[in-house]
Amino acid sequence: MPLLEEATLLGDVSLNVPVVVIGNGPSGICLSYLLSGYRPFMASGAVHPNTILHNKLEEGIHFSVVDQDLEYLSEGLEGRSSNPVALLFDTLLHPEADFRFDYPSVLQWKLEKHNGIPHVVLGKGLPGGAWHMMEGSMLTISLNNWMELPGLKLKDWTNGKWRNLMNDRATTEEVASYYKDYVKIMGLQKNFIDNTCVTSVSKIQQDQKCAKGKMPKSAKIDSTTPQLFTPDNGLPPSLWEVRGYQRIGDGSHVPFCLYAENVVLATGTYDLPARLGVEGEDLPFVFHNVSAFELAVQSCKVGQASDPVLVVGAGLTAADAVLCAHRHSVPVVHAFRKSVTDPALIFKQLPKKLYPEYHKVYHKMCKQGYINTSHSNYTSFPETRIVSFLPDMKCTLQPTSGRNIVLSISMALVLIGTYPNLSFLKEHGKHLGLDPSKPISCKQNPIDINPYTFECTKEDNVFAMGPLIGDNFVRFLKGGALGITSCLVKRLKEKGQLISETGSDDG
Ligand SMILES: Cc1cc2nc3c(=O)[nH]c(=O)nc-3n(C[C@H](O)[C@H](O)[C@H](O)COP(=O)(O)OP(=O)(O)OC[C@H]3O[C@@H](n4cnc5c(N)ncnc54)[C@H](O)[C@@H]3O)c2cc1C
Ligand SMILES: *[C@@H]1O[C@H](CO)[C@@H](O)[C@H](O)[C@H]1NC(C)=O
Ligand SMILES: *[C@@H]1O[C@H](CO)[C@@H](O)[C@H](O)[C@H]1NC(C)=O
Ligand SMILES: *[C@@H]1O[C@H](CO)[C@@H](O)[C@H](O)[C@H]1NC(C)=O
Repeated sequence: MPLLEEATLLGDVSLNVPVVVIGNGPSGICLSYLLSGYRPFMASGAVHPNTILHNKLEEGIHFSVVDQDLEYLSEGLEGRSSNPVALLFDTLLHPEADFRFDYPSVLQWKLEKHNGIPHVVLGKGLPGGAWHMMEGSMLTISLNNWMELPGLKLKDWTNGKWRNLMNDRATTEEVASYYKDYVKIMGLQKNFIDNTCVTSVSKIQQDQKCAKGKMPKSAKIDSTTPQLFTPDNGLPPSLWEVRGYQRIGDGSHVPFCLYAENVVLATGTYDLPARLGVEGEDLPFVFHNVSAFELAVQSCKVGQASDPVLVVGAGLTAADAVLCAHRHSVPVVHAFRKSVTDPALIFKQLPKKLYPEYHKVYHKMCKQGYINTSHSNYTSFPETRIVSFLPDMKCTLQPTSGRNIVLSISMALVLIGTYPNLSFLKEHGKHLGLDPSKPISCKQNPIDINPYTFECTKEDNVFAMGPLIGDNFVRFLKGGALGITSCLVKRLKEKGQLISETGSDDG
């Protein structure tokens, strides 16, 4: 009997799934690819430019990387991620990428269906996660091939469809549709349940299981994948109860309940905008995302002749807002806390040649502001705090030196970073962080994991990947998929629930 049959989806049954993945962005998609049984082998004749790594790969040539010792393989690797498995996977997929050498991947992918692990990927929107929420015409920060997921080159996918891919950087719209298509092309769709929102994850003992739970529509788990828990093969001592709802066609919410032996947190860290915590921040002209600005421009609520838009923040999202304003000739007042010489500014880390538009913004930011802003399209206020927003569409700025400044503005965009929304976990997942007294965030307080298995150090059978553990870039979040799959496969093999010897079906 298959684990989930289509017939059971609509029935009132409670369902056990070995792995539930929360979040359907690049992290969840890449993990689903490996969990489905796609295995990376050293391609025959491939030469990795790192000879130490090459020799290690030769030793394990008959085994997939998933089945090898990741700690051994990744030992001594260095690069722009602090996670060793992320560095390993990156250098196997894009050897020497930091030097822009065009080495081909040393990996060859084979589908071993019998080694697949049944799983469900839940996500609020379409597969692609945060990429569907971004403004479509923006260029990515990363080079094209760093946005790729294993086994499908952006170049091969486009097939001439997107003109812009001739450049080194893709648009966010292109990347979003690549991820959506990837799920279909790789045959992963049956594991994905779109338009679902997880509202609680809690640990339960077997005998507390609720009698009834519904499976959201459209999940189908392949009948060839092994069934992990049946009443006779021994149930694990505890399971995670995953509750949530699915938005269906008519806009209504249908609740569901699943039981999972393992939960993977792949929610990204963009769901909750950071706030200034100042007076008036809830006034209706104060926004915390760029889409509000785009809407205002489209509906002509702001324009060339209106009071300036206040942009708060010195990151790339704030820079995007400045660029958007510039395109529409909307005057901008730009306030940020850092000094323009602060080495931590993101602009200092982006090569000028590749990112001319961001350097244009940075150049403007470096030109100090003037009190009279009414005749300028752009005014910069570095080392400046926001004191308050006032109901008559005014805002008070406090520069480090000098007096407070009161400005009339048409709207305010507070773009100072984001947090994940982990309200579905107890204490909003705080107990999982490196510092349990602070909320989880990508840079300041990532989730504490074992760097090789990606399992939370504070909670067994809960894994985390992507920005949640500090790997913000698609280039490196793929490491989580390798680490988690490797860990789960090894555990199942120990329990005799997956076949141990190598061998592959049709590739
Ligand atoms: C403006 C911008 C530009 C960027 N540019 C680049 C770039 O050029 N290169 C690069 O590598 N990276 C870039 N990034 C970072 C990139 O977004 C991340 O690297 C990547 O999307 C993270 O993937 P993820 O799958 O971990 O999370 P996400 O892509 O954030 O996807 C997670 C999804 O899970 C959903 N989710 C959260 N909670 C729940 C829940 N309870 N139930 C169901 N679903 C839930 C979220 O809403 C989201 O849709 C950029 C980010 C932004 C904001
Ligand atoms: C956070 O996520 C929960 C679901 O887990 C949702 O109900 C809630 O509205 C979200 N909060 C915000 C501020 O978006
Ligand atoms: C942007 O902000 C507005 C108002 O604060 C909110 O209604 C909207 O959902 C937000 N959009 C996104 C994409 O977060
Ligand atoms: C300011 O905006 C006006 C109107 O669009 C435009 O003509 C002018 O070139 C802009 N000036 C600068 C310095 O960007």
